Amino acid sequence: MALLEIKVLGCPILRKRALPVGVIAEEAQRLIDDMFDTMYAAEGIGLAAPQVGVGQRLFVLDVGPRDASAEPMALINPEVLWSAGEVVEEEGCLSLPEVVGEVARAAHVRVGALDREGTPFEVEMSGIGARAAQHEIDHLNGILVIDRFSTIKRNLLRGQLRRLKRQGKRQAPGLTYAADEAVNTQ
Ligand code: NI
Repeated sequence: MALLEIKVLGCPILRKRALPVGVIAEEAQRLIDDMFDTMYAAEGIGLAAPQVGVGQRLFVLDVGPRDASAEPMALINPEVLWSAGEVVEEEGCLSLPEVVGEVARAAHVRVGALDREGTPFEVEMSGIGARAAQHEIDHLNGILVIDRFSTIKRNLLRGQLRRLKRQGKRQAPGLTYAADEAVNTQ
């Protein structure tokens, strides 16, 4: 078991588009296992690789604490294949401690991905699972929840975000396999 450092706002990797995972071998599987350990230790329900300093398209998800029917899942190179409806709910992020705000998300999604062994699968999710999956896929594209908050909400959080950014800039940048251009920062 290894706990990884969770990057917070200000750490540049959070703003980069992650690259597809090529070979799914021991290295990726160890990363997935460590990401599960890190997510559970932080009491999160999802964690994307850029949040631990790795610019690769994968995330782990376990919304079990909020939906007893859900199973833990690792999703590699995920893609939203279909989505429907819209729900606005409060959302937070392990990379933005103590920051919560309302975000509109599709109510239902079908996501295609590779599992921990590299086998393709599709999963349909609603409720908190659908919300968390969309949140994690955003991370793979350098998008954070604050980008989806209202301008008013972001302005209210300005001081808090400035403090977080200072903290994130001091963190080790991590393994940047990601493309160099920053995306969608405001
Ligand atoms: Ni997050």
